[in-house]
This record gives sequence, structure tokens and C-alpha cells, in this order.
Amino acid sequence: MTVTDLDAAVPARPHDDSAFVLACRGLPHDHVPVWFMRQAGRALAEYRAIRAQHTFEEVVHTPELAAEVTLQPVRRYGVDAAILFSDIVTPVQALGVGVEIEPGVGPVVEQPFRTPADVDRLRPLEPDTDLAFVLETVSILARELPVPLIGFAGAPFTVASYLIEGGPSKSYSRTKALMYADEATWHVLMERLADITLVSLTAQVERGASAVQLFDSWAGALHPEDYARYVLPHSRRILDAIGELGVPRIHFGVGTGELLGAMAAEGAADVVGVDWRVPLADARRRIPTGVGMQGNLEPAVCLGPWEGVERRVLDVLAAADRAVDHVFNLGHGVLPATDPAILRNVVELVHREGRVGDRRGRGAEPADG
Ligand code: CP3
Repeated sequence: MTVTDLDAAVPARPHDDSAFVLACRGLPHDHVPVWFMRQAGRALAEYRAIRAQHTFEEVVHTPELAAEVTLQPVRRYGVDAAILFSDIVTPVQALGVGVEIEPGVGPVVEQPFRTPADVDRLRPLEPDTDLAFVLETVSILARELPVPLIGFAGAPFTVASYLIEGGPSKSYSRTKALMYADEATWHVLMERLADITLVSLTAQVERGASAVQLFDSWAGALHPEDYARYVLPHSRRILDAIGELGVPRIHFGVGTGELLGAMAAEGAADVVGVDWRVPLADARRRIPTGVGMQGNLEPAVCLGPWEGVERRVLDVLAAADRAVDHVFNLGHGVLPATDPAILRNVVELVHREGRVGDRRGRGAEPADG
């Protein structure tokens, strides 16, 4: 059986036969694919060399540079997928909502969203003009990459949290205050952000991204009831529409142990990203049948000696139980202090030890004894 037979309406795409895309679809392949969130970035000397000459924004806005830093971890680590070099706030930044990426801090918004009228600062995104630089980067990568490209976007809640708080937050109190106090404005804001996200992701797929990851990094701050009411419907609308394009969808957040089931409910995602706090065997029980798992080595383990890293990588592989729908990753992004040699060794170890069994993930059928 081929992928094309499975869904005749969707033509085969260039990397459909890669271990990464096959694992995302729960289809047979020979080794556990591995990539790392934040694999491009400060852990790599070759990235720091480019950043010594250019700001983060300059790199993102210059397709040749953005494509180069996307390729760096593929060369250095031998990962099975690349992730577009950009940021979750890039689309709203392109709409002129004064956002800057402050090194060591993250996105900072000059005039945070504080009144219902602020929602009107978000006009619809015109991908060919607003995001021309991103799409050119995707086109270059679709030509040059030996592995699939993961397109991505920030989910409405996580992007809204930056717009409302004005920067990173621990409590998300202003964000939650708007959510509870003015539900109508909240949903208008989320709808606009969902439209922007969907336009951005669709354009990335049309230019050649082989899969997408929706980062709802900070959704773990929410009570499950609030997640279901205020956030999930908007993320679902995006994921459902991307599903129609025929590329796998990965849905990820940090601290989402109690949300894992909801994040892929009713076919909303093909793979759920699991952060490092939840043992993968527990995650498997929470994630719906037929949905894959991505994760989840604790990123800080990679700051310690190799013997410890090796044991924990093997633990993750064992917890995933040789499932055909496991994508190896860290449980969040690469920490800048990580030694690249450790990550290179992690990739080799996963490739060597991660032989995939010939059955679907455990979510697909009762444990076969
Ligand atoms: O390899 C990759 O993953 C590259 C592409 C990428 C970046 N940011 C590059 C980046 C992706 C997928 C992101 C997503 C992103 N951005 C998320 C979701 C992922 C997550 O961590 O949960 C979030 C929350 C952001 C917001 C953001 N942008 C933060 C928290 C930071 C880090 C601030 C810092 O300096 O520590 C940024 C900036 C940023 N985005 C950097 C990179 C490589 C560092 C910029 C630099 O070179 O100074």
C-alpha cells in the first residue's frame, strides 16, 4: 500500500516517503525519525557567526540567510527534518504590530493589546506581500533540503499572550483577565489570529513544507475547561483546514500534560508533541487512538555527560515502545548551552537503536501482549 492509495485525492509530495512523514502518518518505515525543536540557533557556532553580523530579524527577512540557518542543523546533526527559520510572531510583526525579538528575552510588544479596539490592529494577512520573504525561504528550502521541511506557526493563544502581556509572562494574568472579563473580544482576537495563522501555514505548505507544527507553547498555563472553551476551537479550525491540504499536523505545547487528549481530539492533529514532564507511556494513554507522539527527552539532560544522555534517550525509545508513530524530539527547545556533539550523538543513537516495530503505535490497537 502506498500513501497515494491511502488518500487518492492528495497527490504524493516530495518527502512523502521519508521516515519523518511516514512516522507522522503512522505508516511503516525503518528508523525512528528525530529532529529537535530550536535545532537552529545559539547552540551552533555557525549560527552565532551569522548572528554576529546580522540581527535576528535580518536573518529571518533575508531568505538566503534564513535558508542557510535552517540547513545548519541538518548538516551538523543529521536530523530527519528541518524546521523553517522564522518566529511565531513573524506574521503579526509583518502586519505592523510593533513587535521586536529581544535577544535573551523573546518577543516584546511596544504597545501591548489592552483595549477591544486593539484587535483592529490585526488586519488580514496577505501572504504574497506580507510574508514574501518567508515564502521565498520556503521555496529555497524545498529545492535544497535533503529532508522534509516543517512549516510552523504560533497558535492563537500563545501569540495572543505576547500581544496582551507585551512580552514573556509567568502568570498570563492580563491574557486570562481579558479571556474571562470580555469573552466576546477574546473570541474576535482569537479568530483574527487563527485567520492569520491559517493563511501563513497554508502558504508555507503551498511553497513546499512537508508538514506543519502548531506551537501552542504556553497553553499549559490553562485549566482544561478554559482550554476547551477559549482556545481549542480556534486551534482546531486551523488544524482541520491544514488537514485538508494533506500534510501531517503536529500540535505542541509545554506543560500540557492535562491537555494532551484534547489537543488531538476528533482528528485535530496527526501527532501530539509531548513535553519532558510527562512519561511517554502515560502520554500514550492520554493521546487518542491512531494519533502519533513526538518527544520527549528533557532538554537539560543534554547539558550533562553523555552516559546520562544515552540512558535517557534509550528510556524515551523504550517508553515509545518501538511504535511506528513516534517522532523523537526533545521535550522543548534546544538550550543554547548545549554541546552540538551531544545532539549529533543523540541522532546517531536514535537511528541505531530506534528500529521501528512492524505494528502501528500502541494507540491504534489494544496492547498485543
Ligand atoms: O530551529 C528552530 O526551531 C528555528 C525556528 C524557531 C525560532 N523560534 C527561532 C528563534 C521556531 C520554531 C521558533 C518558535 C518560537 N518562538 C516559539 C515556540 C517554540 C517554543 O520554544 O515553545 C516561541 C515561544 C517563540 C518566541 C521566542 N522567540 C522566544 C521565547 C525566543 C528566545 C529568546 C532568547 O533569546 O532566548 C525567540 C527568539 C528566537 N527565535 C531565537 C531563535 C533562534 C533566538 C534569537 C537569537 O538569535 O538571539
